[in-house]
Amino acid sequence: MDLKQYVTIVQDWPKPGIVFKDITTLMDNGAAYKYATDQIVEYARDKNIDLVVGPEARGFIIGCPVAYSLEVGFAPVRKEGKLPRETIKVEYGLEYGKDVLTIHKDAIKPGQRILITDDLLATGGTIEATIKLVEELGGIVAGIAFLIELTDLDGKDKLEGYDVLTLMNF
Ligand code: PRP
Ligand code: ADE
Repeated sequence: MDLKQYVTIVQDWPKPGIVFKDITTLMDNGAAYKYATDQIVEYARDKNIDLVVGPEARGFIIGCPVAYSLEVGFAPVRKEGKLPRETIKVEYGLEYGKDVLTIHKDAIKPGQRILITDDLLATGGTIEATIKLVEELGGIVAGIAFLIELTDLDGKDKLEGYDVLTLMNF
């Protein structure tokens, strides 16, 4: 299936100069959403994944159906002030700003094999921060899966040495 046809390109959003890749039109299509999910599940199947971790908010959209299919849990990485119990945090840069990501301190047990999921790799700031959170808690990043990679932004350079799947390149 050619997944690219389901992604909508939005010029100059949320800021002038940004070409936004809108995945809501892919999610809107049951067959495309299932196909994308199944591709990631197949990638992760032989990696002995214990837990899926994804950053707010679009990382949940990808990670939760994958976790369900792998029959493992899902731990959310959220922006500061959203998780109710003790967290660890890390600051990171975005294609269009700066933010802080957090995870519950007890979300990952040391040695657990983690699949990280997100919709899109741009500068790599979000995923780098998510990796830091996982590794600080003793998790092993066994795989990282995205729907989309924006190749011009070289986010992959931050992921050297990690096992990475991307379903679409723009
Ligand atoms: C977007 C996207 C990725 C991240 C990619 O999330 O879903 O998580 O940016 O950019 P990067 O590689 O430069 O870090 P955003 O922070 O806009 O949050 P959202 O998912 O809640 O919309
Ligand atoms: N997150 C960061 N950059 C993005 C882009 N260009 N489109 C969609 N999501 C993004």
